Amino acid sequence: MLAAWWFRLCLQVNQGPFGSELSLTLQVQKHLEPFRLSLEKLQDVSARLRKDMIRGLGKHSHHRASVKMLPTFVRATPDGTEKGDFLALDLGGTNFRVLHVRVLEEEQRVLKMDSQICAIPQDIMLGTGEKLFDHIAACLAEFLDSQKLRGQTLPLGFTFSFPCEQKEIDKSILIRWTKGFNCSGVEGEDVVNLLKEAIHRRGDYDISSVAMVNDTVGTMMSCGYRDQSCEIGMIIGTGTNACYMEEMKNVKRVEGEDGRMCINTEWGGFGDDGCLKDVLTEFDEEVDKTSINPGVHTFEKMISGMYLGEIVRLVLLKLTEEKLLFRGCPSEALLTPGSFETRFISEIEEPDSGLENAKKILTKLDLDWDLVDACVARLVCDTVSSRSARLCAAALATIVNRIRINRGLDHLKTTVGVDGTVYRKHPNFSDELQAAVRLLAPKCDVTFLISEDGSGKGAAMVTAVAQRLALQSLCV
Ligand code: BGC
Repeated sequence: MLAAWWFRLCLQVNQGPFGSELSLTLQVQKHLEPFRLSLEKLQDVSARLRKDMIRGLGKHSHHRASVKMLPTFVRATPDGTEKGDFLALDLGGTNFRVLHVRVLEEEQRVLKMDSQICAIPQDIMLGTGEKLFDHIAACLAEFLDSQKLRGQTLPLGFTFSFPCEQKEIDKSILIRWTKGFNCSGVEGEDVVNLLKEAIHRRGDYDISSVAMVNDTVGTMMSCGYRDQSCEIGMIIGTGTNACYMEEMKNVKRVEGEDGRMCINTEWGGFGDDGCLKDVLTEFDEEVDKTSINPGVHTFEKMISGMYLGEIVRLVLLKLTEEKLLFRGCPSEALLTPGSFETRFISEIEEPDSGLENAKKILTKLDLDWDLVDACVARLVCDTVSSRSARLCAAALATIVNRIRINRGLDHLKTTVGVDGTVYRKHPNFSDELQAAVRLLAPKCDVTFLISEDGSGKGAAMVTAVAQRLALQSLCV
């Protein structure tokens, strides 16, 4: 869409389409072509993901699977009768949050009573696990004091948004760090234990039961309280991932055949076995090579906010080297990794102010631009973000199609709880994603519900549902 718009603009700025600008258009388009994924290609990607999901669920095949399909031990979505006060911890990006949450049965509402944000400085993100958990324990202590909650033993939900092999609701082994974290001594360890040890080291307060939750699960559960047909949670933010309710009989790694269990797909790892080689561009390969975790989370690196800006920067640089942009002169800033922030993409793609924003951003990056350069930059942003939305759609379509087939339905009506800055802030990401899902899952009617503070409130919801189920089993 933007390509045609840019072509028209070339005409308007009095640069004939049959001369140098036409050839420029064609050359730019040639470099962007590998990002354009046809519907057939997306269907093919979806079929590959379907196979990987089955491998991830299998008892003997899961350890080879790049899509981990982790059982979460969340066996039910909310039924609206949950209630009580909870503490929630939320770690998954550059900030850590502590929340006091109240679940009101009468109003079917989850209220955030109060919350506190603690920054996680870079040296802690890359330091020792002990330092990280001491920092978390200190933030929690500060919050308990400020809320006068010290001494009360409220149940605690811990949203820990990294791939974890969950053994039980309160035992969760970190498989690997993602999203720029790399604290030593945590991979392979039980995160609940590390938290409890840090609290014991302080010795000035204690906690009771802990329920571990991925942010996708928190998102699904917090939306599930509002809309009980919400059985999928999806995040498209710094990282990307989704969870959904799978039939227990298909979850071969957990005993029992009855009912359902929420599976954390960890779809960010899709492609780590090389199965997306034909979809990856030279820019994706470069982003991977220079990341702190090369070779892993391949799908996430094509989609999520941590990487989109860098992909755009590399494309702009390539076009400059090819003398298709900025008269062939890159600035120091453009040559610097990380200088093109992902939020610039959203700003540049704004329907009304986008072109003006592009001019400001290119100036900020110290580039010698003209109007055509600004239009090309917009086209690059649009191409990279569209691919991200369409890849996400392919992955989500795989999940909704699977749920429909699992239940033997001709038609499925379902709701996805969604969160993440890319989905929320980008001007047309959600429209593009939803349109592609309609094409890729024509027998499914999917409603998208933006989660309000899902990872915090959702952790409380998981804890509340676990309590309800425990109470019900006592009454049987
Ligand atoms: C993590 C997931 C998480 C996602 C979204 C990924 O990097 O592996 O566990 O759900 O980011 O935050």
